[in-house]
Amino acid sequence: MRKIKVLSVFGTRPEGIKMCPLVKALEKDERFQSIVCVTAQHREMLDAVLDIFKVKQNFDLDIMAHGQTIIDISTKVLRGVDETIKECKPDIVLVHGDTSTTLNGALAAFYNKVPVGHVEAGLRTYDIYSPFPEEANRKLTGAITEMHFAPTNTNKANLLREGVDEEKIIITGNTVIDALLSVIDEDLKFEQEELNDINYKNKKVILLTTHRRENWGEPMENIFKAMIRLVKDNEDVEVIFPMHKNPSIRELAHRYFDEYKGRVHLIEPLEYVEFANLMERVYLIMTDSGGIQEEAPTLGKPVMVLRTETERPEAVEAGTIKLAGVEEDNIYNLAKELIENKEEYEKMAHSANPYGDGKACERILDSIFKKFN
Ligand code: UD1
Ligand code: UDP
Repeated sequence: MRKIKVLSVFGTRPEGIKMCPLVKALEKDERFQSIVCVTAQHREMLDAVLDIFKVKQNFDLDIMAHGQTIIDISTKVLRGVDETIKECKPDIVLVHGDTSTTLNGALAAFYNKVPVGHVEAGLRTYDIYSPFPEEANRKLTGAITEMHFAPTNTNKANLLREGVDEEKIIITGNTVIDALLSVIDEDLKFEQEELNDINYKNKKVILLTTHRRENWGEPMENIFKAMIRLVKDNEDVEVIFPMHKNPSIRELAHRYFDEYKGRVHLIEPLEYVEFANLMERVYLIMTDSGGIQEEAPTLGKPVMVLRTETERPEAVEAGTIKLAGVEEDNIYNLAKELIENKEEYEKMAHSANPYGDGKACERILDSIFKKFN
């Protein structure tokens, strides 16, 4: 039997985390030949993920450059994936989510008339500028996709409303849960000693991440001001901020937090296993990340989302996340409530995660096999 040739294209840290479990499943499955093309839109942050999952790329476009624009990324990805497809002639190209790698990887496949499989399809905020450019990336990718792997019923309903043929939508759960469940380890020691010295049991430790383009500038300053008030007003609160590699975020973080050393821990991005285990140990997570909204509930951690909207409404409905917005007072007040109100905290911590059962990869593989046979 001829194997189905699957080309997986990804390039940033979150795409890596969510695609590596799928690549591993493809490698193990005799029905498929797995080929991996990384664009390396992220370099160090992606390489750390490839290392952990022991995924070896067949093609590496190595496109990252400091200070490059979305247009720079897009043109390089489009050309690079086009050449890759011409060389390896896949039966299907898989892309993930909503980055510039996603959209341009899909476009290269479409121009070569190779069917696109979109993993994590159907997420929408219906605000084309928020998240920017991700909302548009998702919609445009969806328009040229042959197989839509939608994590939830809500995502499927969004696609149906846009006129996508029901037969092309497969509900899978999110592959991030497949990854997460395999890495939790109570005895794990962190590489950065500072993290081992924190008293997670007796302190209220808040894990902060923020990187989104629409939060650059004033919103991010509001977030940082709220964090400082929380630290000043609550002596048992400490904050850990693994800073995204983007230089503009790091500069601002140092400007605000350097004088709070010991209470606000500015650290390097953590590799995925460490980050997952850190989520497990902290009290509360405050983030504008997409993936973390999906992961944290599986670990029983409340998430405050530092955005004005979310494409993950299932989590709001399930009660595992709360939209905190980007105004200083709102962020401060909501965090204060979760620090002081035990009942409210426990309600969030014990709500069920709507993002799946860890079998998303299996469902994706079975549906690809069915399509090609
Ligand atoms: C990108 C995606 C965003 C996704 C995010 C996940 C686009 C337009 N943006 O945003 O959708 O949510 O990744 O994190 O697709 N850098 C390094 N090393 C790294 C990674 C980044 O030095 O390993 C620095 C580089 O200077 C790079 C900059 O960060 O140019 C920005 O990276 P880029 O991929 O353009 O944007 P992100 O903000 O990371
Ligand atoms: N993450 C990580 N190390 C960190 C911060 C985040 O491994 O220091 C993981 C996190 O568990 C999640 C993913 O990176 O799976 C989220 O990436 P990011 O916030 O960059 O992107 P988004 O999810 O917003 O697209």
